[in-house]
Amino acid sequence: MRQMNGHVISGSGNGTTRPSRQINVVLRSHNVFGSGASAQALEADPLPDVKPLPAVDHFADIQKELEPMIGMENVKSLVYEVYALLYISRMRAEAGLNGGSQVYHMIFKGNPGTGKTTIARIIAKLFQKMGVLSKGHLIEVERADLVGEYIGHTAQKTRDLVRKALGGVLFVDEAYSLARGGEKDFGKEAIDTLVKSMEDHRSQFVLILAGYPLEIDQFLLTNPGLPSRFPIQIEFPDYSVDQLLQIGELMVKERDYVLMPQTVFKLRQYLMQEKLNDMFSFSNARFVRNTIEKSIRHQAVRLINHYSSSIPAKSELMSIRPEDLKI
Ligand SMILES: Nc1ncnc2c1ncn2[C@@H]1O[C@H](COP(=O)(O)OP(=O)(O)O)[C@@H](O)[C@H]1O
Ligand SMILES: [Mg+2]
Repeated sequence: MRQMNGHVISGSGNGTTRPSRQINVVLRSHNVFGSGASAQALEADPLPDVKPLPAVDHFADIQKELEPMIGMENVKSLVYEVYALLYISRMRAEAGLNGGSQVYHMIFKGNPGTGKTTIARIIAKLFQKMGVLSKGHLIEVERADLVGEYIGHTAQKTRDLVRKALGGVLFVDEAYSLARGGEKDFGKEAIDTLVKSMEDHRSQFVLILAGYPLEIDQFLLTNPGLPSRFPIQIEFPDYSVDQLLQIGELMVKERDYVLMPQTVFKLRQYLMQEKLNDMFSFSNARFVRNTIEKSIRHQAVRLINHYSSSIPAKSELMSIRPEDLKI
């Protein structure tokens, strides 16, 4: 428990930013913000007569979506850091302290299917909850959406999409592809327009550039003005086979199915093999999702064929058998 200028911040743990830990900020009935913070006040013991008001847990909904996701420990702690930063920035502003840069544009580095779009959606919601973005929606675009066919067309297309994204997040997937054609390519015009929009609409939208780690690094190297505009970088590592299996189990559970033990065994073999064969384009959790969805269709066909004149038991309706996983 620690008192901070009239706000009581309580949390278990030892001060590390664990996403599973929640900080509940309890406002005391009188607001002493603005009365001049001193280092001493920050370290003061909590007053015995503090009656905490019901805690407002701004992170709870976000936590509900983040927690079930398999692995991603670094991503989860970064999202938590962003939350903490937004929260404390607001308190600091109320206390009349320097508001900082207030730039939240981000780079997401990771292979396909590592959860980038999913996390971008959650972050958009977080910013909306914290009062930084008015709408909290996500506009996902790629090169073809931004780049036009003649001079001026690209700037116009890009500006239109930025306008759509105002109040939310503009998520540019495979961002490096904007730079692939060099100076004469219209992709360059899209980058310039995006950079200009970041200035024109400061703090009205968050821009997230996403893509394969190596290509994003290359992109940032060849556009030296860019990295400093994206203070938050999040890396999305590939999933291990065990994590992919857990993701698969989670996906079937959500859909009210179960994998039989032999199916899990077969899926494990399949994932190990595909991960090896497809080192550079293996699509991680998306591959698992597609595999599960295909198996669900095969199960349906199997059941229809088998139960032409009777009704399958509930357990049969739920079971994904190894033969449903066709590889
Ligand atoms: N850690 C995870 N736990 C559970 N499901 C996940 C996880 N990461 C990704 N997924 C699921 O995998 C699919 C692909 O994720 P997505 O966010 O589209 O990846 P990316 O944008 O990096 O290609 C989505 O259905 C998503 O819900
Ligand atoms: Mg994506």
